[in-house]
Amino acid sequence: MASSPKRVPIPRRGVDYRGRVVLAPMVRAGELPSRLLALRYGADLVWGPETVDRALIGTERRHNSATKTVEWVKPKPGADASTACDNVIFTTHPDLEANKLVFQIGTSDPERAVQAARLVAADVAGIDVNAGCPKPFSTSGGMGAALLREPDKLCAILEALVKEIVPEFEIGISVKIRILETPVETEALVRKLCATGITGLTVHCRTTPMRPRERAIRGQLRMIADICREAGVACLMNGDVVTKDEGLRLAKEFGADGAMIAIAAEKNPSCFRSASQGGPLPWRPVAEQYVQTCMDVRNRIQNTKYLLAQMVPGKEKAYRSLVQSKCYKDVCTALGWEHMVERAEQLDFILKLDQRTAGKQKKETKRKAETQDASSDGQAKRAKAAAAPMPPPTISPEPAPPVEQPQVPVSLAT
Ligand SMILES: Cc1cc2nc3c(=O)[nH]c(=O)nc-3n(C[C@H](O)[C@H](O)[C@H](O)COP(=O)(O)O)c2cc1C
Repeated sequence: MASSPKRVPIPRRGVDYRGRVVLAPMVRAGELPSRLLALRYGADLVWGPETVDRALIGTERRHNSATKTVEWVKPKPGADASTACDNVIFTTHPDLEANKLVFQIGTSDPERAVQAARLVAADVAGIDVNAGCPKPFSTSGGMGAALLREPDKLCAILEALVKEIVPEFEIGISVKIRILETPVETEALVRKLCATGITGLTVHCRTTPMRPRERAIRGQLRMIADICREAGVACLMNGDVVTKDEGLRLAKEFGADGAMIAIAAEKNPSCFRSASQGGPLPWRPVAEQYVQTCMDVRNRIQNTKYLLAQMVPGKEKAYRSLVQSKCYKDVCTALGWEHMVERAEQLDFILKLDQRTAGKQKKETKRKAETQDASSDGQAKRAKAAAAPMPPPTISPEPAPPVEQPQVPVSLAT
């Protein structure tokens, strides 16, 4: 009688990566609005950007009633908590992503990893350890790809998380690696990792020195997927996957359990729409939906602009105005979305972006700030606006496409 395949049990609040096509962890590109958009368009799970353990340790968990988000904040003495965005280390929207969000941690130490993971574990569906980032800011601290050269340390981190976090929070622990130079080295590493009690492993099919533009190498993938299957660990493949359908096809071809998409999703999060839903959408409706989502969660304007600059083709006329924009109103005007300008102005006021725009207005604001009465009056208005929810939120699952026009959902049509 054939025995059923071995599987590391998925804890009650955890998620199984099998059969899933997911949004990759991406610093800057994987902030809350990008994740919500990816989910809206059909990503099965989303990874948060790598957050370094030391950055998270010392944060306070705070509920933001205006955006319905939960934020981990490093308090700044005297700062206006509702508008000072710079000290927010991580943000999630529990209603929309809690059971689909995997938190990725940057760490080089088992104790610190556990200390940091404990702060977010009740709000996420999994903790993933970054063992693939080749950037000096990560490797110089012994994190990211540096851990690939210290497998014992990496295993100690994973084992500590499995021991301390899994029983208490009932979520799974996973790891994201790159391939090593030779299949023999990779095999030895993957076998060790699979014995730590992790439920999932993602393999970015590039070696550490390889740049993102170099084609992913899939020669070691089947071997890695086989080892994972033997150990009962779900295996996600990553590298040059551009759509959800392609991810599922490639996973099947190489024996992996699912796939992860980064750059293609950064450029167009609707890459998660399957062909049966009409496939990826053109950039305009996607970018518009992205800005609506950014406004819903009051995303930092710099981050909003960064992502838009990936989505809007550089040859578009609007691109130049977009990169020069300083506030949400500028962004909406640059892209010709007059219907969003009023809402953008309200948000600019709340985020104090209106002060930065017109030089004349800036001088006037400064003059007023010098007068105690005027200043406190402005602060009071802003605080009131900041506490109030914005007009109707636009975050929701993508509406079912109309039967005759499957490509562009009604709310997205330009
Ligand atoms: C802007 C950007 C930020 C990234 N940040 C992270 C990160 O925080 N953690 C991580 O493990 N990988 C990070 N990566 C790597 C991706 O998760 C992914 O492994 C890589 O881009 C290969 O996938 P792709 O070929 O689909 O782009 C990042 C990639 C990009 C483009």
